[in-house]
Amino acid sequence: MTTACLNGTFLPLEDACIPVMDRGFLFGDGVYEVIPVYGGKLFRLAHHLQRLGNSLEAVRIGNPLSDTEWETMLKELVSRNDGTDQAVYLQVTRGVAAKRDHAFPADTRPTLFAMSNPMATAVDIDSITGTTAITLPDIRWKHCDIKAITLLPNVMLRQTAVDAGAAEAILIKDGHAIEGAASNIFIVKYGLLITPPNGPSLLPGITRDLIIELAAAHTIPFREADISETDLFNADEVWLTSSTREISPVTRIDDTVIGAGKPGLLWRRMITLYQDYKTAIRRGEVC
Ligand code: PDD
Repeated sequence: MTTACLNGTFLPLEDACIPVMDRGFLFGDGVYEVIPVYGGKLFRLAHHLQRLGNSLEAVRIGNPLSDTEWETMLKELVSRNDGTDQAVYLQVTRGVAAKRDHAFPADTRPTLFAMSNPMATAVDIDSITGTTAITLPDIRWKHCDIKAITLLPNVMLRQTAVDAGAAEAILIKDGHAIEGAASNIFIVKYGLLITPPNGPSLLPGITRDLIIELAAAHTIPFREADISETDLFNADEVWLTSSTREISPVTRIDDTVIGAGKPGLLWRRMITLYQDYKTAIRRGEVC
């Protein structure tokens, strides 16, 4: 049984209900986070709470909890759910208003919902053979750095990828690869790791930031730079990263085989560093 937390109350997921006048339901007026849990420990919680705070501030919803209160609630949620490895989903909406009006209601209390589900990530690196992606025009809005629950474009893009038998859509804007429908993008060319710089066009991924930190700590050549479509298709390696995908090597995009058509050497090095970091989290050596 999955346990959820709705406005501070822990309850079975199937019993969690919100009023239909909640602005999250009517307008998609809210923000969210997805936080991996390894060995019962919340992965980079401070980074996720910082990004949540930024998203809330950007859409002018008051943060309903302090960082300490978030931590207490999320730890309780994790302990009430099965498995040591989980994916926590949390969302905060602007709350329930008396009538439907696009403008913010004067005095609503944000609705806070969180749930956690078991997460199975690959532990055997050799079992990872690579995925395929398709490119699609980036049809989203101009505030993609806000982790908004309003995800209809991302949903449509991802489904187009699924319909084409691909794992993810890589979004193209002004001739550049921006990110995936639900992931950040990296390429490798001549040993240099490249990802687009943060800004309003993409989500500042927590996984992305950790990869950058690991590259710096292990003197892996690295640059934040725009990735043209030509760079993308000519890359030696392409990776898509997220809290739930971790670091996924892409071996085919549209009809083009990427690099040698199998996970690359730098991917192998980075996923090993990433797994080592997860082990350190499980042991409580880092957070
Ligand atoms: N999505 N870009 C987009 C558009 C995303 O939706 C996500 C994650 C990322 C990667 O961010 P992070 O490394 O912090 O997970 C980048 C989550 C997993 C989701 O919507 O389920």
